[in-house]
Amino acid sequence: MLEVGRKGIYPADKVARLFKAGYASKYFDKLPDGQFQAKAVLRNMITFQRLNLIEHNWLLHKQFDAIFCRNVMIYFDRETQFGVLKRFVPLLKPEGLLFVGHSENFYFASEYFHLRGKTVYERVHKS
Ligand SMILES: C[S@@+](CC[C@H](N)C(=O)[O-])C[C@H]1O[C@@H](n2cnc3c(N)ncnc32)[C@H](O)[C@@H]1O
Repeated sequence: MLEVGRKGIYPADKVARLFKAGYASKYFDKLPDGQFQAKAVLRNMITFQRLNLIEHNWLLHKQFDAIFCRNVMIYFDRETQFGVLKRFVPLLKPEGLLFVGHSENFYFASEYFHLRGKTVYERVHKS
């Protein structure tokens, strides 16, 4: 799946909506088989790497504007979720946002994250 992501190849129907705004021609190349591949300028902005949330060897050394972790922690018990959320905090910029799934609720970790809107949490700033 990482390789699929790195290649950035999509069937035509998946990029169809991008044509109207001019993004498809700007950011995608049409392949001989009719599919579309994201241009290198776009692909080079993205790093794909394996990360097991319940292992402790995350090789992430910078802060992110946003973390999308949707419908993943549904598999974890509350204690594990709490531990993962705690480890997300230093990985988010001060104004960074955490996006989760519609059925996920992390009210029990309110010391780390406040609900900002539906499915969106912001970091708690401790003084
Ligand atoms: C229900 S899918 C959600 C996929 C996607 N985020 C979405 O919202 O459509 C759950 C995903 O959690 C991933 N997952 C499960 N346990 C994980 C773990 N310990 N670390 C990282 N990812 C995990 C699975 O590989 C799967 O891709």
